Amino acid sequence: METQRIVYNDRVVRQFLWASVLFGIVGMLVGIIIALQLAFWPANLPPFLSFGRLRPLHTNAVIFAFVGNMLFSGIYYSTQRLVKARLASDILSAIHFWGWQLIIVAAAISLPLGFTTGKEYAELEWPIDISIALIWVVFAVNFFWTLGKRREQHLYVAIWFYIATIITVAVLHIVNSFEVPVGAFKSYSVFAGVQDALVQWWYGHNAVAFFLTTPILGIMYYFLPKAAERPVFSYRLSIVHFWGLVFLYIWAGPHHLLYTALPDWAQSLGMVFSLMLWAPSWGGMLNGLLTLRGAWDKLRTDPVLKFFAAGVTFYGMSTFEGPLLSIKSVSGLAHYTDWIIGHVHAGGLGWNGLMAAGMFYWLVPRLYGTKLHSRAAANFHFWIGTVGILLYV
Ligand code: HEM
Ligand code: HEM
Repeated sequence: METQRIVYNDRVVRQFLWASVLFGIVGMLVGIIIALQLAFWPANLPPFLSFGRLRPLHTNAVIFAFVGNMLFSGIYYSTQRLVKARLASDILSAIHFWGWQLIIVAAAISLPLGFTTGKEYAELEWPIDISIALIWVVFAVNFFWTLGKRREQHLYVAIWFYIATIITVAVLHIVNSFEVPVGAFKSYSVFAGVQDALVQWWYGHNAVAFFLTTPILGIMYYFLPKAAERPVFSYRLSIVHFWGLVFLYIWAGPHHLLYTALPDWAQSLGMVFSLMLWAPSWGGMLNGLLTLRGAWDKLRTDPVLKFFAAGVTFYGMSTFEGPLLSIKSVSGLAHYTDWIIGHVHAGGLGWNGLMAAGMFYWLVPRLYGTKLHSRAAANFHFWIGTVGILLYV
């Protein structure tokens, strides 16, 4: 029998990981600055450093730079191991990494300067939109080419979540960015009126679903059983979770447009699909938490598992709250209030942030062949982070 030695491309995994840590710090610092500006108006320094310009900088930095780099790191690490193949192309991996960082820098310059399409989470102007589409295609080619070279026939559920992410984000970004340039840094959407709003929130909601949720679920299905040293609780449930989630999520966008000019039936459709989303979301949360069955004692000592258990719990809380907020009468109370900001950060900080920390603490010692420098510091990080998030939300 022939033995093969596979050398994985962990260089790009490390690069994305450190980029995520760096932009996590920057993005959250900007979060603190805009929080200060809300509470203390003289902290606004118009025009470049005013709340209106820094808020999209915060959202873009934490979503696309912090979570984006984190998910690329996790996807590249786990996919290579799951399919037993090195990433198909070192060059495409490098273009993906450097291209994405250039896009982040372009965003960090253009948003404070006031260049914006005015579409939330899709503010970047058309030259940057085109770059995003191109880099995403590089990522897709690299990923699917790697699957084509795989030595493991079976595609584990995490890979399904990654496939859904790659295909859906491409479609969402391209359709929502159909725009007519009127200058080097200015464009207008081809959609108008309520159609524009509907396309925008079909995109906006699914940015949450397919950028902040499905890739992180894939990461959960790979890293959580690894860290707990136990198989996933139910593989069948994970498949139901996957199909339920991807089918339902794509219809839920109108819950962002309740009590607007959008036809009533479309608003109700968005509300009903959002309510149904509760089931697969909680199926996934329970599958994650029940994977820890028999390993709960490890939670006392292992900071990685602490982060994962709390992250998955926050996933459960935000996906309970989300369907609730989609009910028209509840929305009437909550929309335009800080409840929504609380919901956003239960997901963004509680689910994405804690999962990122757990994954980093698990990965770094393995990527560098070392041990965690200080378990006590990681535990302190966990407690101060969790208590902080609970106070925030
Ligand atoms: C079953 C799952 C979920 C449902 C049904 C849901 C539902 C909702 C609803 C109804 C709103 C709109 C509130 C309003 O403006 O009146 C909202 C806002 C938001 N949610 Fe969720 N949510 C879910 C899960 C999540 C998760 C897991 C995250 C983060 C990872 C998240 C992030 C956001 C964000 C960023 C917004 C703000 C959008 C804006 O800028 O207006 N949601 N969600
Ligand atoms: C130290 C951590 C953070 C702080 C202090 C912070 C602070 C803020 C503040 C003050 C706002 C504006 C609220 C308003 O307009 O009333 C905001 C909005 C937002 N933040 Fe954060 N944030 C943090 C981390 C994060 C993370 C990690 C994510 C996602 C991964 C995130 C996603 C968002 C989003 C999507 C919005 C817009 C919400 C909406 O339009 O409804 N934030 N944040």
